[in-house]
Amino acid sequence: MTWHEWQDAPWGRLRYALAEANLSRHLTDHATVLDLGGGNGVDAARLATRGFHATVVDRSPEMLADLPDRVTGVEADIATADLGTFDVVLLHNVIQYDPSLLAPAIAAVRPGGLISVIALNRHAVPLVTAVRSTPAAALATLDQPTQRTELFDTDIQLFTAEEITDRLSALGCTPLAHYGIRAVCDYIADDTSKHANYADLERLELALTARSPYRDLARMFHVIARRDNSMSPRPVASADPG
Ligand SMILES: C[S@@+](CC[C@H](N)C(=O)[O-])C[C@H]1O[C@@H](n2cnc3c(N)ncnc32)[C@H](O)[C@@H]1O
Repeated sequence: MTWHEWQDAPWGRLRYALAEANLSRHLTDHATVLDLGGGNGVDAARLATRGFHATVVDRSPEMLADLPDRVTGVEADIATADLGTFDVVLLHNVIQYDPSLLAPAIAAVRPGGLISVIALNRHAVPLVTAVRSTPAAALATLDQPTQRTELFDTDIQLFTAEEITDRLSALGCTPLAHYGIRAVCDYIADDTSKHANYADLERLELALTARSPYRDLARMFHVIARRDNSMSPRPVASADPG
């Protein structure tokens, strides 16, 4: 499956629809949005359509070449670029490739602004594996800190919302909300049915995204936090995830 095919499939569409709905509970009019590792700008384009000024920073020229016109693109490495400061910074499905990018992302949030982090949820991995593979395979994933992703053919690091929330607090942010993205979709083994039932599935996912315990086992977590007014992050006890 290619990146575009993933984005257009029901599970990709849900990922972006849920992120937009969750963010819309927190955004104020005319906010400036910086989408770090924003890829081809699907999150940014949705927010630009709602009237926000959206900029994508990504190191991949191929991704940036695919950006819609209403989004500004900047080719740069998050770790080293001078990013400036924005009202809202998105770091969506990036920390699993490099958790140290959390610190520069927070530095790009203006004091009092918002950081939005989405990543794969480690709590979901044994259950999704049990549904889609075998109980033995699911057992083998328990407590595993990494997983192979076929889409990008690489190993990724797995976190929980609790870990990232703690990290955000340590880096000078106040957590505001924890959502789950795809609390149901990935536990339905029949992918074909998701095309026919997409509208109902999206309504169900939207109803569950903020509800515990459903959100806690969703395929991805979505954490939103406010950067504290002090410009310097609190001291950090350990270096990982940064
Ligand atoms: C899985 S894609 C996610 C894209 C987008 N956030 C989304 O969810 O649709 C990860 C993106 O992060 C970008 N990326 C990873 N590390 C980066 C870095 N250090 N600087 C800039 N971009 C980076 C990659 O080029 C890729 O486009």
